[in-house]
Amino acid sequence: MTVKKAVIPAAGLGTRFLPVTKSMPKEMLPIIDVPVIHHVVQEALASGIDDIIIITGRSKRAIEDYFDDSPELEMHLAKKHNSDLLDMVREISSLIDIHYIRQKEPLGLGDAVLRAEKHICDDPFAVLLGDDIIKNNTPCTRQLIDIYNRYRCSVLAVENVPEEMVSSYGIINGRPLEDMLYLLEDIVEKPKVEDAPSTLGAIGRYVFTPEIFDHLKRTPRGVGGEIQLTDGIRSLKNSQNVYAYEFRGRRYDTGDRMGYIEAIIDFALDQDELQDDLRAYMRQVLER
Ligand code: UTP
Repeated sequence: MTVKKAVIPAAGLGTRFLPVTKSMPKEMLPIIDVPVIHHVVQEALASGIDDIIIITGRSKRAIEDYFDDSPELEMHLAKKHNSDLLDMVREISSLIDIHYIRQKEPLGLGDAVLRAEKHICDDPFAVLLGDDIIKNNTPCTRQLIDIYNRYRCSVLAVENVPEEMVSSYGIINGRPLEDMLYLLEDIVEKPKVEDAPSTLGAIGRYVFTPEIFDHLKRTPRGVGGEIQLTDGIRSLKNSQNVYAYEFRGRRYDTGDRMGYIEAIIDFALDQDELQDDLRAYMRQVLER
């Protein structure tokens, strides 16, 4: 059984992006003209996922509206014979069937993932954080699924983070197995740099065996009073192998203001109609 289902947790409060996140989900912040979560859904699709569950919370209606049909807009565009825009709008709502589950309170990422248990049943599944974008020809989730298919075990994507950022991540201690692949020996949520077992931090991509749910159910509140996915993984690795993989690709944490700016610049530089003007403008700005 390969991985066909994915959970996208998008119910967090986004406090790093206040005040805009008071009334708007951070997952809907635009990377120029496409919201962050659209890129995340596309990564899941490109990885072979055909069933997506988005975990939403209060003031997250915009996410459901974005992926839904928009009859008035479509009628308006059809009347104006604007077929390019009409196709684009229709394509978004026909991408894939998305199911929504509400996390009543933002009790943490571990709790958000646990909300999906009834829908996932006994299948392996991917988790993609709704505010992380990863660019690569082979999508990061596909890379993890390939490892799952070889070992039939849970696997998380990790990357080396700067020392000053260690206390913002779940940091792993891993036994190197082969190129970029580690057997997870431990994982600690947001350690002080002096206590951290490495600088390899878990970023927002995972593949889990369904047993993770039993471990999350037994996970007490941890750092920040939240049910931490990291603590659930720590418990899971005591009963079955868990792997960590240094994925290939460039990651943008768009829930962080600097990460968001970097994403916008890089995505604009990729667009033929924007890159020349943007380069000229940046040169001008740097000379000020
Ligand atoms: P973050 O760790 O970025 O948390 O969540 P956050 O609360 O949204 O943001 P800050 O730190 O306050 O700015 C990572 C992902 O997990 C989701 C978020 O929506 C985000 O996509 N999440 C987090 C939930 O779905 N539920 C939660 O209780 C917490």
